Formats: sequence, structure tokens, C-alpha cells
Amino acid sequence: MEQAQQKRIVLGITGGIAAYKAAELARLLVKQGITVQVAMTEAATHFITPATMQALTGHPVLINQWQDDKGMAHIQSSRVADAIVIAPATADFIAKLAHGLADDLLSTMCLARDCPLLVAPAMNKEMWSNAATQRNVQQLIADGVTMLGPVNGLQACGEEGMGRMLEAEELAQCIVATFQPKLLAGQKILITAGPTYEAIDAVRGITNRSSGKMGYAIAQAAQEMGAKVTLVSGPTALARPLGAQMMNVSSAAEMFAAVKQHVDDTDIFIGVAAVADYRVAQPCTQKIKKNGGNLTLELTPNPDILAYVAALPDAPFCVGFAAESENLHEYAEQKRRAKKLPLLAANLAQQAIGADDNELILFDDAGEHRLPRADKLTLARTLLRHAATLYQKGKS
Ligand code: C5P
Repeated sequence: MEQAQQKRIVLGITGGIAAYKAAELARLLVKQGITVQVAMTEAATHFITPATMQALTGHPVLINQWQDDKGMAHIQSSRVADAIVIAPATADFIAKLAHGLADDLLSTMCLARDCPLLVAPAMNKEMWSNAATQRNVQQLIADGVTMLGPVNGLQACGEEGMGRMLEAEELAQCIVATFQPKLLAGQKILITAGPTYEAIDAVRGITNRSSGKMGYAIAQAAQEMGAKVTLVSGPTALARPLGAQMMNVSSAAEMFAAVKQHVDDTDIFIGVAAVADYRVAQPCTQKIKKNGGNLTLELTPNPDILAYVAALPDAPFCVGFAAESENLHEYAEQKRRAKKLPLLAANLAQQAIGADDNELILFDDAGEHRLPRADKLTLARTLLRHAATLYQKGKS
């Protein structure tokens, strides 16, 4: 999260039931090193207390424009902010923003700001679809405001429909993303992630302990940097990264087919998947019955997807991964040369697989670059900054 560190946001809370989610949002943002100054409308204080928000952010909450001696909170707070985020934003507050009204502290801060404004609407589906709200939202978009959601779902009133606020975790992701440098703007990135599953029979198979976390983190980081991401994933328990085009596959053969389908339209290919080196030569379509004796499985090699892509005549910029259990440096550099990769990220398998954090060593033509232990999203961002630099150099 190093890019988000030292950033300051004003979190504006307006009076809707989704205000309770603002507490979790504030907590997540603070956890990522962001300074959060909360500003609430008077109506919002009926849904969540300023004391809760102050405790979570460590800063007194701004509510009333007359509460500071000089009456300049709206200018001071919006000047030091890197962004103002309104979550939840009611239909009424969106209407105020669209018309440039400034009749309380939060709306005045929005009008006086010189930083980006992000708005997360939350309201009943009829209020959302009302022509006036839709007109106001269009006006905000035309004014350069970023709309975060809403989404379809169950509403506090018991109805179901459009107008539900994004979850705190999704909002935090979007907010942090706005602070990332757009080094991959418009680039098409194809990523493989997770394990593969090679069937033995109708119910059994060979797989590995890859969780997919690193590949999914790279997909998220690439999108934050402005890339258009296609993620080809083996079976994992992870949520689909917001905004990525997702292809769910099972075996290495399926992964290979999905990659072949997309690779022509790819600028950068990143092979993070732990692809099984072998598959069962003749998987049984029925469940194999035990007979008390030994069972011999014949294994046959799988195609090397990354080596195939890197050897294409018009190959995209290729990044490989190597998980080794010993001789990391030697094996990784050998692998990079054998597969003719401009960049390879290596890690110790026993430390990396399934873990939330990791250490990486990047190998490229200039040598080795050590990325110290960090969570996988932080590592993904650093890796992609490195890859983007090499990719741009290669093109110029
Ligand atoms: O040779 P090794 O399997 O260690 O290489 C690892 C790298 O190659 C990873 O980037 C992995 O995604 C990729 N790979 C592949 N297809 C295979 C085996 C590995 O794309 N069959």
C-alpha cells in the first residue's frame, strides 16, 4: 500500500442507513496508511455517531461550519485532502452537488475543493431511478466526479434493486486505486493464476497448493494502474477482482486454450499460475474402484503455456514466476533464459504458496532486484511498476 501512504482523504458521510458501512470503510482506509478526516452532515449523525468515526480515524469529526473559530474548516480541510469521498451519498446530497449548493459544511467543502471527488450513492431503487437523480448523476459525471456504484441488491427497506452502496472493502479498493500512478493506462494484460486440476477419474484429480492470491493481486494492481485485465484462473476460493474479464478454467489444457484465445490481443502476459507439469495420460471417465493392489498412473507432460507465448513471433512482453524450494537464484535465472523472458519473479515455494505475504526477487537483463517481505498486493504493485518500466523501454 506504499502508494496510498501519506495520502489524506476527507470521508463525507450523509444521512442514509448505509452510513454504518462508513465505519468499516474508515477502518480499512486507516489500516492502509491513509489519513482520514471525517465530515458528516447533521442527518448522518442520526445513523452513526461522530464518536465512532472519531475513534476509528483518530481525528475529531467535522459537522458544523460554525464549529471552528475562524469558520474556515471547509477551505482548510479540502486544501490538504488528496480526495473527497462521499460514502454514502444520498439522493439529496447528489442533487446539491449537481447544483453547486453549499448550505452545510460538507457541501461547502465539496464546492471549495481542488482535489478529485468520489461519490458512492446509496438509496432506495425508486429514488435512484428517478429522472431527477439520474439527471444529477449525469451532471456529476460530466463535471469529472467519479461515481463508485451503486449496485443491485437487497435494500434496507426490504426491496431489491439498484441503489445499494458498494461494500466497504470494494470502496476502499477503488479509493486506493485512484492514488496509483496510471503506468499501464490502456494496456491489455493477460494473467494466469491459481493451480490447475488434472483429472485422474470422475471424482479425483492432481492439483497443487497454489491459492491464486499472487495472480489475483497482480490483476487488481494492473487495473489500478489503468490496464485492461483478462484473468485466466484455475480453481481458487478468491473473489473475482472487480472489473477484470474472468475466464475460469480447470486443467492446464483449458488454461492453454483460454490463453491462446486471448493472446493475440495482449500487450503484456504474466504467467503466475502454478500449472501442473504433468497430467494423467488417460483419465478414467468413471470413478476408479479399488482392488487392493497397487495402482499405476501414467503421466504425460503438459504444454508450457508461458514458453509457448514467449516464443510467438509477435510475442507480448512476458513475465514469468518461479517457485523453487532450493537454489532459487540459479534455477530462476536458468528458467528466465530458457523461456527467453525479459522479467521473472522468483520466490521460495515453501514461503509463498498460500501465504498472504511474500518476498520476491526479480530477475531481468540488468540483474537481480530484491523486493522485501510485504503483502501480495504491495508486491504486485512494485512488480508491475518494474515491468511497466521495462516494457516502455523495450518499445522505445
Ligand atoms: O518451469 P516452471 O514451471 O517452474 O515455470 C514457472 C513459470 O512458467 C510460471 O510463470 C508458470 O505460470 C509458467 N508455466 C506455464 N505452463 C506450464 C508450466 C509453467 O505457463 N506448463
